[in-house]
Amino acid sequence: MSATMTPHVVVQDDGAVRVVRMNRPDKKNALTGDMYAAMADALAAANKSPAIRCLLIAGAPGVFCAGNDLQDFQRAAEDEEGLSEPILRFLHALAGLRKPLVAAVQGNAVGIGTTMLLHCDYVVAASDARFITPFVSLGLVPEAASSLLATRLMGQRHAFALLAMGEPLDAQTAQACGLINRIVDAAEVDAQAMQAARKIAALPPEAVAATRQLMRGSPEEIMARIDEEADYFKVRLQSEEAQAAFRAFFARKK
Ligand code: COA
Repeated sequence: MSATMTPHVVVQDDGAVRVVRMNRPDKKNALTGDMYAAMADALAAANKSPAIRCLLIAGAPGVFCAGNDLQDFQRAAEDEEGLSEPILRFLHALAGLRKPLVAAVQGNAVGIGTTMLLHCDYVVAASDARFITPFVSLGLVPEAASSLLATRLMGQRHAFALLAMGEPLDAQTAQACGLINRIVDAAEVDAQAMQAARKIAALPPEAVAATRQLMRGSPEEIMARIDEEADYFKVRLQSEEAQAAFRAFFARKK
């Protein structure tokens, strides 16, 4: 496997299951460029490896992912940039993944922590899981093709409350909306998600791939929406609304 190494993402193959674990617990698994690059590489390499039949994305104990590193967003805004190359590469890798993707979610799943789940095929969450996409409160717009996929998955009403109003979903509501499959005790999340991944990995892989392709529709459409959102995102990052929100986040404890 070609890999971008970072201690903040641990990639391990367990039989036919590739486990991609976000591991920056001191920052609640806020994602940096290196983390996106490592995850993008792990996904892209899985496509090419016949030995890998399913992927599992997981977080650290008590936290799935606090979204994009807001310091990186602040820097991108100062440099008049948009979503960085590693972010876009990761998002495209999600859309272009040809193997099933399972997620194990504990604690907070913020921003991309929630929108990446829209690309997953099966999600196991802890009873303490909380899903929130505060894009608009941050002066931003949704990403990861969530403006397309959330609407498809949960319908316009739920998608608007989540993506535009930033209303958090607890595990029960997320399950009712179809965002997650199962709710289990936090201590059981990783094991139960691994069990689901192994079950998927044991199915005939070509039939799984064909079924998944039929259900998901065209990856090109999803990639096009990722790029369209990214154009808006770049403009929004430069906005005073966004910059004030980033300053407020980092000033909150001072
Ligand atoms: N970017 C950068 N740093 C972040 C971060 C982010 N997205 N999320 C958390 N952190 C950092 C905090 O600044 C803090 O760092 P410090 O210890 O050096 O002060 C550390 O992670 C712990 O965060 P804290 O807020 O104290 O943890 P919490 O358990 O009280 O709250 C969250 C957890 C996830 C609810 C909260 O951190 C949060 O709202 N983060 C921002 C989420 C966000 O808006 N993401 C972008 C979405 S587009």
